[in-house]
Amino acid sequence: MLEHCERDINTDMQGGLNDGYQPSGDLLKDRVILVTGAGDGIGRAAAVEYSKYGATVLLTGRTKSKLERVYDEIVGLGYVEPMIYVLDLAEVGEDELMQIALSIRKDLGRLDGVLHNAADLDVLTPFEHIDQASWERTMRVNVTIPFLLTKACIPLLREQKSSSIVFTTDECANKPKGYWGAYAVSKAAVQNFAGMLAIELQNTSVSVNCIDPGATRTGMRLRTHPGSPIKSYPLPAAIMTAYLYLMGPDSAGVRGHVLQAAKWLENTRDDRQYQIKGATIIP
Ligand SMILES: NC(=O)c1ccc[n+]([C@@H]2O[C@H](COP(=O)([O-])OP(=O)(O)OC[C@H]3O[C@@H](n4cnc5c(N)ncnc54)[C@H](OP(=O)(O)O)[C@@H]3O)[C@@H](O)[C@H]2O)c1
Repeated sequence: MLEHCERDINTDMQGGLNDGYQPSGDLLKDRVILVTGAGDGIGRAAAVEYSKYGATVLLTGRTKSKLERVYDEIVGLGYVEPMIYVLDLAEVGEDELMQIALSIRKDLGRLDGVLHNAADLDVLTPFEHIDQASWERTMRVNVTIPFLLTKACIPLLREQKSSSIVFTTDECANKPKGYWGAYAVSKAAVQNFAGMLAIELQNTSVSVNCIDPGATRTGMRLRTHPGSPIKSYPLPAAIMTAYLYLMGPDSAGVRGHVLQAAKWLENTRDDRQYQIKGATIIP
């Protein structure tokens, strides 16, 4: 198993997610899932999708008004009522994260999944122009907090028959590119941390994997690729199959993988409803 985890890290074997995968409507029924960065972009789409499939979603993010909009959307659609935790991950410390885990236990009695989705990305720039504060904030939000939050949540996750931790990576974690600074370094670090955890937790009920969403039409993409045809990228809602698969019981036993969310979309071509007419997916 140890060997298995090591071999599959950084491959695109897709962890058994086949092109015809269709989650059942009650995939996440009665589960409790925490999503970081749930107020916008991919995190927002994941929160709505997990709720649609029956989960109680703990919405965390730094902008209260955005979280409230997601809350209203989920309730308006008739899905399970979510909970909001306003948290600036650049500021929060280990004690507060431990308190949150205690309150999840007290209020809900369980936790079945964590999606580490929030990420900090400052401007793309030559490394000499990156100041220490910016570097440390990115490393904190993208690496240190996923570590501390995982540490706080692991006792709850271990109590379930099958639970999931999903980290978010980026292709720059494996292919160094100029000017991506602390963001790229943080994604390489988090991917390594996920692989390490997958090995350490291989004999427990907790599966650990990474997801690389691929180019997706969000505010972050607009900032990093300002001149690119943003409308040709899939919307976050289009890439949710891989997010559902990794968070639910269908992927129990899948450990240490890096799933490419957009690749599934490309393979299945199930993207038309999410695309602007005539646009193509950029590989
Ligand atoms: N979009 C892509 O093409 C792409 C490609 C590869 C990987 N990814 C990865 O996918 C994930 C989601 O990205 P996205 O494109 O959806 O980005 P996004 O639209 O910018 O959303 C990021 C979310 O993270 C939250 N966040 C950022 N800093 C935070 C902090 N200090 N404390 C709490 N929340 C914080 C943001 O909150 P506010 O809204 O309040 O600022 C926002 O809700 C990231 O891990 C990113 O690295 C994205």
